[in-house]
Parts: sequence; structure tokens; C-alpha cells
Amino acid sequence: MNNGKPSCRFVLLADVHYVVPPHPRLQWPQLVEELPDQPRVTELIDTMLPMALEQIYADLQPDFIVYAGDQVNLGWDEEGLVNQHGFRKLLAEFSSDDVPVHFVFGNHDRPRERYVEFYGQTIYSFTCNGCHFVVLDSGLMEPQEGEQQQEDQEILAAGVKELKNTLDKADGAPAAVFVHFYIYPPDLDGYSYRAAAEAMKIIESHDRPVPVLSGHYHGGRVDIANGQPYFTARSFIESPFCFYLHELSEDRLQIHEYVLDLNSGRWAGYRMCAFDLNSDSA
Ligand SMILES: [Fe+2]
Repeated sequence: MNNGKPSCRFVLLADVHYVVPPHPRLQWPQLVEELPDQPRVTELIDTMLPMALEQIYADLQPDFIVYAGDQVNLGWDEEGLVNQHGFRKLLAEFSSDDVPVHFVFGNHDRPRERYVEFYGQTIYSFTCNGCHFVVLDSGLMEPQEGEQQQEDQEILAAGVKELKNTLDKADGAPAAVFVHFYIYPPDLDGYSYRAAAEAMKIIESHDRPVPVLSGHYHGGRVDIANGQPYFTARSFIESPFCFYLHELSEDRLQIHEYVLDLNSGRWAGYRMCAFDLNSDSA
């Protein structure tokens, strides 16, 4: 909290797409020689992610870190099990017990049952320094059929309920939503949360703006729709290899984009955008 007012700083990484087997960690500038040939750095992730985390923990010292979905390149079959173990092992080695880590379920992280064992529930809420956060489960890219369709509907209904409850609890305090897919735009097949229209109604009926923070679309995008900010992070796995520092307070959400600087081997941050969250000006 800042002077007793709710505020927090958190780092968001989206679409890490971790894969095994573990590859040896490269030293700078050996890494930079490999990068130009790599549209996605799956073979370099064992170097890139620890490098980023060391900088995040040492320099940014966030209140928490959130992985916005697709933590692994694929979560299913035997290969997926090994990927999930590998990712958790890497985080255990390069994380700090003092900084909580939260996870969002991405379509590459399926199956859900296995995900729950590794990360916990896919729909939940938490608070940090008086700010309220809700995490939603956007499921798979395609609508499901048969029994899966029933589960899909239940997951969407549970998400909408959690969103409503969290915003009710937040009252006038800052609140934000984490979800892998877009809530806005609400109608892009394979990209939009299938309960997006309902979620937008709940968000828009809240008495102050509620930022929605997403991943999935690796190119990233920023929208303001009906006074509400919608932010999609660029992926960590593809050039320019971004992560984000968010500063949330009663008055605003300020987002700094950190881009890998190929000359120094460090991520350079700049103020990318800021959203006014005062209800009067929304
Ligand atoms: Fe995704």
C-alpha cells in the first residue's frame, strides 16, 4: 500500500511456451548469436527465462509475478507431463519465496486435470496490497462437444460468477482481471473468451474501470472499449521477447514494457501506456 492507499506492482509474462529437454544455459553474448535464427526461442528458453527472472527479482522487486497462460508449449501426453515438471523445476530454481507467483490457464497448458495438479485451480481470486484480482479459465480454442461441452459451459459459468463476486468484494478498490484469451474484442473465434459478452457486461456495470490483462495473441494489442482498458501482452517467446511491469493504484494502471536489448543482454523498460482508473473520468 502507498500511504495506506491500495496499490501494487506486478510483473506479467505471457506465453512462455516452455519445452524440454532442458537445454544448457548459454552465456551472453553466445545467446545473441543464436537469436536471429529463432522466430520462437523454445530451444533458448532455459537461458532466456532465468535471465529475465534474475533481472525481475533483483531490479524490479515486484509484489507478485503472473504467468498469463501457455506456460508450456504443450501440456498433454507424456511430453506434456515432462514439460510441466521441467517448467516447475526451473521456476523453483529461479524464483523467490518472498514473491508470490500466480498462473493463468492457457490452451497449450491442457489437460485441465493435470494443470490443476501442477498449479492449482484455474478460476480463483486473490488480493495484494488492497488490490483485487480475478483469474479466469478461457479453455481451449475450439468450442467443445458432448461431455466436454458441458464442462466448458460449467467452467464459463464459474468464471463469470467469480468475476462478479470479486468485483462485488473489491467495491471501490482497484481490481483487474487475468485471462489468457481476449475479453475484448469479444467475438474472435479461437481468440476470444467464450463468455466475453457476459464478462464485459459485468465489468462495465462496475463503478470504476477494471483492466483486463491477457496473453495468447503473441503480437499483443491495447484497446479501450466503453471506458474499459484491455491489454494483451506480447509473448515472451518471440522477438522482441517482452515482459511487463504493471503499477496499479486507485487512480491508474501504468504499464512498462521491457524489451530484450540485444546489445546488453538485459531487458530495457519504457512506459508503454497508462490508463486513468478514476470512475469520474471513465
Ligand atoms: Fe494461447
